[in-house]
Amino acid sequence: MSEQSTAKGLSQSIIDTVAPPNASAKALEAAISVRRKDLFFVVFGAGGNLASMKIFPALYQSYKEKKLPANFTILAVDRHENITSGSFRALGRQDLLDKGEAESEEIEAFLSCIVYYPFNLETGNYQSLKTEISVLESEREVSPNRTIIYFLSLLPWLFEPTIQGLGEVGLLADENARLAVEKPFGSSLESAKVLNRLILNYSPESRVYRLDHWLGKESVQNLLNFRFANGIFEHLWSRQFIDYIEITAAETVLVPEGRGYVGALKDMVVNHLFQLICLTMMEPPNSLSADDIRNEKVKLLRVLKTDPKFTVRGYYEGYDRQEETYIALKLMVDNYRWQGVPIYVRTGKGLKRKLTEIVIHFKSVPSTLFTAAVPNSLVLRLQPDEAISLSWNLKVPGQANNCQKSLDFLYNGKGGFEVNIPEAYQTLIERMIEGDRTLFTRADEVEAQWEVVTPLLNDWQSSIENNGHFSDIYQYPLKSDGPSAALNILQAGHIWDNL
Ligand code: BG6
Repeated sequence: MSEQSTAKGLSQSIIDTVAPPNASAKALEAAISVRRKDLFFVVFGAGGNLASMKIFPALYQSYKEKKLPANFTILAVDRHENITSGSFRALGRQDLLDKGEAESEEIEAFLSCIVYYPFNLETGNYQSLKTEISVLESEREVSPNRTIIYFLSLLPWLFEPTIQGLGEVGLLADENARLAVEKPFGSSLESAKVLNRLILNYSPESRVYRLDHWLGKESVQNLLNFRFANGIFEHLWSRQFIDYIEITAAETVLVPEGRGYVGALKDMVVNHLFQLICLTMMEPPNSLSADDIRNEKVKLLRVLKTDPKFTVRGYYEGYDRQEETYIALKLMVDNYRWQGVPIYVRTGKGLKRKLTEIVIHFKSVPSTLFTAAVPNSLVLRLQPDEAISLSWNLKVPGQANNCQKSLDFLYNGKGGFEVNIPEAYQTLIERMIEGDRTLFTRADEVEAQWEVVTPLLNDWQSSIENNGHFSDIYQYPLKSDGPSAALNILQAGHIWDNL
């Protein structure tokens, strides 16, 4: 059947609202089947920061773009007894207005689909939660084959009782159920394994969605397209032509108040930055299926090596807790393609500038002709102002000298895309509803990530045991580049780009 005739058989009004004009028949059918299947979306930790800043606004955006099913219900679960559905909706309305939305009937229609349920995840009776869900489903005429998503937007110690509670009363056994789990996924290899075992005890891997929200960012997704759709770079993508790789995730924000912060390594490196390394350095997957992509990531992680001697930790001036707010590390990939190519990674809070970028530093040309030539570099700027930039050495007109210029592509600039770039959470929630796991991490993948940092965690633990505190942790001024000790992990001739 041709793409056109398939599309003709489908309801035109749905097509108009859910799919771009040039969407393929497969994409159309997927979009339409999502719209037709009822959705019951349970948010645990609904009163938390993440839910109010990211999850509810993302659901509203999908609703506005008509990407949510016609019949959907959001059950907002949190422990506060004094909140009602009415007061919870009022808070949700305010969050949307604070994000720049204007009051509208659309907002009210969206909010009317939210029901608040007070529940203590540690001591509550999950049988009553189950009853609440089925009462609501029948009141709202939700079809029995609806998709039901349990989204755990929780502090780490609440994962276990919640998963166990849901599992024990059979809620995760439903084959239409999906379990979405936020990071941090464990705090060590051992705890990640325990969490995986617990989850897989109640739900098959095919229904588990472990979130690393960076995978939902357009610029991160683009890494696959950039690498594998452009032959020009793929041929240069190895130790033969690349000298080193630099990855920076600098933030100006400080550590948020509260008990959730786990230090820069566990908060940023084990998940977001390892995902960037994987997408930059893994082999081409056999296909773009979730499992083919994840297989390649796991293969790469298994040969990714850290070394405590090439790791620098820091904390910003005025920070009075123990965890590091900055970390810089040199990693190596011990495989055929990458042996000998260092990957320098740094991330920190309270720094000079917000910037996430990957810089590929190419090897220099032989020095016989143009001694002042600077090695080429390719910058993949992931945020803010997503861009790709390639540096060249060129002749200055009218002179024999070289100078460096760059060829820049700005996503939102002239010649870029004139579309709104969706927020990561919107993309992830929509993929979850579609049942597409490509942008989520697999059990063995998270375990492999923890395995990479185990030598560091062991080393730090033994330094606490021997000295009573972390050794070698440097203070850095606020709004700076981080501790200058980060220079010590670089090999001769390598540099950190300025922030
Ligand atoms: C979160 C970390 O996962 O990512 C935060 O817990 C960090 O500490 C945040 O600030 C950064 O993400 P984004 O999307 O703001 O770059």
